[in-house]
Amino acid sequence: MNELIADIREQVVFLRELGVSEIDANLLVPVEPERRASRPVETRPASQPFEPIASVIPTIARSSETTAETRQTNVSRLSMLPSLSNRPSPKRTTNVPPSENLAAVPDEPMTVITTNFANDPNISAILSIREEIGPDCARCKLSTLGRKQVVNSVGNFNADLMFVGEAPGADEDLQGEPFVGRAGQLLTDIIEKGLQIPRKDVFIGNINRCRPPQNRAPEPNETFACKPFLLREIEIVKPRVIVVLGATAAHNLLDTKVPIGKLRGQFHDYRGSKVMPTFHPAYLLRDPHKKREVWEDMKMVRDFLASSA
Ligand code: URA
Repeated sequence: MNELIADIREQVVFLRELGVSEIDANLLVPVEPERRASRPVETRPASQPFEPIASVIPTIARSSETTAETRQTNVSRLSMLPSLSNRPSPKRTTNVPPSENLAAVPDEPMTVITTNFANDPNISAILSIREEIGPDCARCKLSTLGRKQVVNSVGNFNADLMFVGEAPGADEDLQGEPFVGRAGQLLTDIIEKGLQIPRKDVFIGNINRCRPPQNRAPEPNETFACKPFLLREIEIVKPRVIVVLGATAAHNLLDTKVPIGKLRGQFHDYRGSKVMPTFHPAYLLRDPHKKREVWEDMKMVRDFLASSA
């Protein structure tokens, strides 16, 4: 159920991005042109060129009647809707397998969906931060220096472990997700092969959400504008451990100028979380010998998480 709620919430955000404004009670989706043409004009006011999302997801509102079969139906129907690349991954998942048999699903009409996100307030809180930032954020001059999009934090909004980088690079700017380029692949290996944790189960963000030109480090006035959003996310997620990647992230989170080589290898404290600074994966690509130190840092992280579980 939590996963379904997360899916619905995701679709709500997507619909908002499409310009749908009234989605609290009647979730609305655009009508496909051929379906719109085949319907009588008077069934929908001209000011509302959408149909209730419930006709796309006919059974989802009737949680009291939900069976294993209908849960499969709901998940697979949701998966047919457009997806956001940075969808949240709740820690507690139900792992309902997708249904192969969509044709057998009766297309029952349904007009109202009620959604209740109270059982995972972190999802609402993080998504409202994203909304507050907005897709066209212009709080610093990075918005005028060639960035393609704002790259928000992703992953599990209830994670025990968080990674914080500096700012998106070219690949992240294109794909809208942190750490998806070469350095990101190395980070994924550190998380999945090293720590044996699926990437989707950690939370990943950057000090700055827009790509600086020529991949330069973000300037103090840029981090000043953007960092508060990350700090608010940390307050919400409350990870037990935060790994800060590279000097810029470490200096910004820990408010220090101590070199990263001296900061790494020991835990620091940040508002109830343990912080482990380590070398940035982009640095490891340039100097693979440094992987040994990073692995030592990750073993400390792994052991801390295991001991305090
Ligand atoms: N480097 C970062 O610091 N962050 C990213 O998201 C990608 C590369």
